[in-house]
Amino acid sequence: MRTKPGLKYLTYAVALAMCGGASAAGWNEAGGEQDEAMLLTPDRERGIAVYEVCSACHLLEGWGLKDGTFPQLAGQHRSVLIKQLADIRARNRDNPTMYPFALDDQIMAASGFHEGEIKPAQLVADVTAYITKLPMNPENGKGLWAEGTPEFEQGKKLYADNCTQCHGDVGEGNEEKFYPRIQGQHYNYMLRQFEWIRDGKRRNANPDMVKQIQEFSDKDMQMVINWTSRAPVSKGMLAPSADYQNPDYD
Ligand code: HEC
Ligand code: HEC
Repeated sequence: MRTKPGLKYLTYAVALAMCGGASAAGWNEAGGEQDEAMLLTPDRERGIAVYEVCSACHLLEGWGLKDGTFPQLAGQHRSVLIKQLADIRARNRDNPTMYPFALDDQIMAASGFHEGEIKPAQLVADVTAYITKLPMNPENGKGLWAEGTPEFEQGKKLYADNCTQCHGDVGEGNEEKFYPRIQGQHYNYMLRQFEWIRDGKRRNANPDMVKQIQEFSDKDMQMVINWTSRAPVSKGMLAPSADYQNPDYD
């Protein structure tokens, strides 16, 4: 498409105004609470107290639900937990179900603090340090296609061609770069997020990922997420069995 120079500048200015100058580099410049929480020293006991609130949906084990309503949080990189929680709290990622529990007043009250007694960023630091160390569900929700089926193989190939540069060889993600661990996550949750990211509904998504997956059909999406839901998780990250119960809440 050819555009007149004037028009091009106008488009650029409008784009800038609309997204506050956000570019690939701007995607992770939340600053504020995210940066603050990353630097604070976490306290385990407070983390346990705050997490009790979260467990109403994410379960005491941090495993979420196989049907994908609630994501598994256990084992997620701490940087990712902090970014996502900070984005949700800043309403930069829509999550109306969670707001009543995660916005300032609620996260404080629920963990027994009053305004002025502690900074919310401290509670974010505490709870995320606790969650990241929880062992993961050894039986996460998986897609339909078992290893050996053509769809499994196609999903594996799509993954290798489009996802490894960020999410790693087997979906392990990257702590330093804020890329989520997606191995061991529930299929239905990932499918929803992937679709929202592709279609621009998840507002805090990495713009490079959005670009990378634009051409994915619904079937491609199902096949690649089928593969990530079945990607191997290292034994050390997993709970010993699906009957495991979090001993911190006896
Ligand atoms: C009322 C239910 C509910 C409660 C309570 C709740 N959450 Fe959530 N949380 C959700 C839902 C639903 C999602 C997924 C939203 C979506 O599909 O985009 C989510 C997503 C998240 C995510 C993003 C995960 C990812 O993989 O990107 C994080 C992090 C998170 N919650 C942390 C917490 C913490 C910490 C608490 C406690 C302070 C908490 N949640 C309390 C419902 C809840
Ligand atoms: C350029 C880097 C990049 C590429 C390429 C990429 N992703 Fe992502 N992906 C991310 C980042 C960063 C997030 C977290 C977005 C955010 O900040 O909210 C994410 C989020 C996700 C999520 C949601 C995770 C959660 O816990 O909510 C899924 C599922 C996902 N990616 C799957 C994929 C798959 C499958 C591919 C390949 C087809 C892919 N991604 C390619 C960077 C990337």
